[in-house]
Amino acid sequence: ELDQAFDAFIREVRGLVPFDRIAIVLRDNGNAQVMAVAGAGSDEIFPPGTTRPIAGSLLEEVLRRHEPVYRRDIAGAEYPEEQEFLDLHLRCRLATPLLIGTQAIGMLSLVRREPDSFSRQEIELTALLGRLVASAVQNIRAYEAERKTVEELRRLSALRADFVSLVSHELRTPMAAVIGSARTLQQRWRELTPEQRESFLELISGETNRLATLIGDVLDTSRIEAGTFSFRFGDVDLGELVRDSVATAELATDEVSVRAEVRDPLPRVRGDAERLRQVLMNLIDNAIKYSPAGDAINVRAYAEDGHVRIAVSDNGPGVAREDQRLIFEKFGRVTSGNTRPGTGLGLFIARSIAEAHGGTLDVHSVPQHGATFTLQLPGPG
Ligand SMILES: Nc1ncnc2c1ncn2[C@@H]1O[C@H](COP(=O)(O)OP(=O)(O)OP(=O)(O)O)[C@@H](O)[C@H]1O
Ligand SMILES: [Mg+2]
Repeated sequence: ELDQAFDAFIREVRGLVPFDRIAIVLRDNGNAQVMAVAGAGSDEIFPPGTTRPIAGSLLEEVLRRHEPVYRRDIAGAEYPEEQEFLDLHLRCRLATPLLIGTQAIGMLSLVRREPDSFSRQEIELTALLGRLVASAVQNIRAYEAERKTVEELRRLSALRADFVSLVSHELRTPMAAVIGSARTLQQRWRELTPEQRESFLELISGETNRLATLIGDVLDTSRIEAGTFSFRFGDVDLGELVRDSVATAELATDEVSVRAEVRDPLPRVRGDAERLRQVLMNLIDNAIKYSPAGDAINVRAYAEDGHVRIAVSDNGPGVAREDQRLIFEKFGRVTSGNTRPGTGLGLFIARSIAEAHGGTLDVHSVPQHGATFTLQLPGPG
């Protein structure tokens, strides 16, 4: 948007105040950012996209004075950047601030070969043009900010709508299984063999667990949002936690194998052992859930650079780069080709827990070659 506006503006200026070179430069904290350039040396010196420190440059002077600075003849190269203009036989420089009210956001710079060639009128007209550019920049920025907000809101409301149908589906499926099994047991108890009864009971307990986890996740999420998610900090032996979680996961699945690799000695960390177990189980569950049968999952724990890291790696489909932010968001799931059940709350909760420990949770993945989720926690002091 801005680029197009600048190009159109430069075309207009050409008819009003002739120049051999023109540049629009915006301030970005302590840096000058060249936004648009036309005319002499536009590809060689300070082309669009150039960023350089403001200190010591003519821009610094313009921003300080809040009025045009006219360099009749730059032969002495008073500002370091002027040597490059001289090399192109440019001699005369007029720089005017881009003013929004009393705030200077950059400069419009016109350069000519002929020394002392800007008339008083041209200088005044250029000052006016500076104000025009400034207000155009302000409008476009406001418009872009607005558009981003609207897009974000639209995305959030789509997520929420997905969530309602997702959760009701996720609740209904296990519920239906539990109710169906209970009814069968009740009506046909006598006809069923002990093995059949056993398998209905197992189904009920499995589905009830799934329901409990789901409800737990929804509750955790609303506590995180409300800021009432509580922790019980203590000394945690991460090696033990990893071996335990891996043993539990290994027992619960026959489809994939889960291996622990703890590089001793691991320093103890300060944390909430139960919450950290929740994070780890979540990562392992995901790895299992998104891996093809027969695969292996690796859980490595090691100390490095004063941190302790736990990395859960799988060889599943991985996560495309453009989805790597989304999956840590509330309800964030990759829907294309994803038929696994879930609500998309797991990683949101896991990252919140990691951050509450002063740590991080990130993913590294090359799609089709698996994913590695790394929990990093600060080591002892
Ligand atoms: N190991 C993995 N390999 C590939 N994709 C993954 C992996 N782990 C997570 N994902 C992607 O990230 C999404 C979010 O994961 P998250 O754990 O937050 O939710 P979920 O597993 O879908 O549901 P649940 O809330 O039940 O855990 C998943 O839906 C999946 O698309
Ligand atoms: Mg999950």
